[in-house]
Amino acid sequence: MRTQVAIIGAGPAGLLLGHLLHRRGIDTLILERHSRSYIERRIRAGVLEHDVAELFAAVGLGERMRREGLAHGGIHLRFAGQTVRIDFRSLVGRGILVYGQHELVKDLVRARLASGAPLWFEAEAVAVEGHCDGRPEVRVRRGDRIETVAAEVVAGCDGFHGIARAAVPSSLRREYQKQYPYAWLGILARAAPASDELIYACHERGFALLSMRSPTLSRLYIQVPPGTDLAAWPDERVWEELELRLSAPGFRLERGEVVQKDLTRMRSFVVEPMRWGRLVLAGDAAHIVPPTGAKGLNLAVADVTHLARALFAFFEEGREEGLEAYSRLCLERVWKVQHFSWWMTQMLHRAPDASPFDHRRQLGELAALSASRAAQAWLAENYTGLPLDVSGIVD
Ligand code: APR
Ligand code: PHB
Repeated sequence: MRTQVAIIGAGPAGLLLGHLLHRRGIDTLILERHSRSYIERRIRAGVLEHDVAELFAAVGLGERMRREGLAHGGIHLRFAGQTVRIDFRSLVGRGILVYGQHELVKDLVRARLASGAPLWFEAEAVAVEGHCDGRPEVRVRRGDRIETVAAEVVAGCDGFHGIARAAVPSSLRREYQKQYPYAWLGILARAAPASDELIYACHERGFALLSMRSPTLSRLYIQVPPGTDLAAWPDERVWEELELRLSAPGFRLERGEVVQKDLTRMRSFVVEPMRWGRLVLAGDAAHIVPPTGAKGLNLAVADVTHLARALFAFFEEGREEGLEAYSRLCLERVWKVQHFSWWMTQMLHRAPDASPFDHRRQLGELAALSASRAAQAWLAENYTGLPLDVSGIVD
């Protein structure tokens, strides 16, 4: 099998890249190790930055997103018995769209299959070779057979646990990471969201977040120690903890059937560079952010816009400068977003080793933010998303 771009991974990064390249007539093959139903059911965050939602709509992926997505003009910060609304629209003139990542994945898969371009499920990339001398190949396991896919470029969109990153020689690869001393226990519940916008709560018992997927489906999280056993958290205990941490005058949490319960690890990670020869990395394969602020998917989309533009120039004009600049262009945004995600995380969570000074300082930070329109504007600018350059991608 031969293709122009072999894309490893059918997450948001790989599927969007495939979509954008297919629109320009560039051949792609997407390889995904799991089944279609597995990737379409995987519950992840659900906040689209303003420009990211606009991009999806502009490239023909916005029909259901526009209909079912929930447009939000702000978020609430809850701490020390008070609730402060960060009014995105008045601060920066734009908002966010709450739309589950797995819904977006379903839209992307449907568009891909309708286009007739190849997407192989249950096809696991086991090795990437030849990318240093311009003739990359991917070895793919399908059932009990190993096939070889020859490509001009390989895009490693295979997430944090993929194989592509390791194909950048370790002597040239620099990895930066930070582990946080907490995790998120998340539930998806058949319950009307108790607020029409997200609530981020900093409580002495730990962080809590109220989010949602639809007018009848709530997504809620509490900070727990890493390695927490979900069996120790029956539904009743989760609801009680949520009620304590989210409590505020006049606020009542709606309970409902818990349809999913999961644990999310908290990590910051970046690999540099994001390209080596004809192998490029995008999305979680290259960087992870902690979930506070929901930047993972949005950052993956930003990578893909740079990558698509670089590949258009490569295949249409034979120019390699875009590919050479790819890593630098992505990393400029990656580190800004790393900072923002870390900042939101440390401001809102209770570290197990925090001193009384740390707690008071944290409340001081929240009070300062609440009192400063300039500080809120910075939060709003980052939360709703740094500008996304879609030139050359959206006609
Ligand atoms: N071969 C084929 N597919 C693979 C392999 C492999 N060796 N390794 C991983 N994959 C697939 C995974 O099964 C997954 O479907 O690659 C895909 C990677 O998708 P994501 O993990 O969703 O990563 P990405 O597309 O970069 O999306 C970034 O989505 O995952 C969230 O937290 C993440 O929100 C962020 C955003
Ligand atoms: C979610 O809805 O899953 C979500 C929302 C906001 C976050 C993280 C996750 O910061």
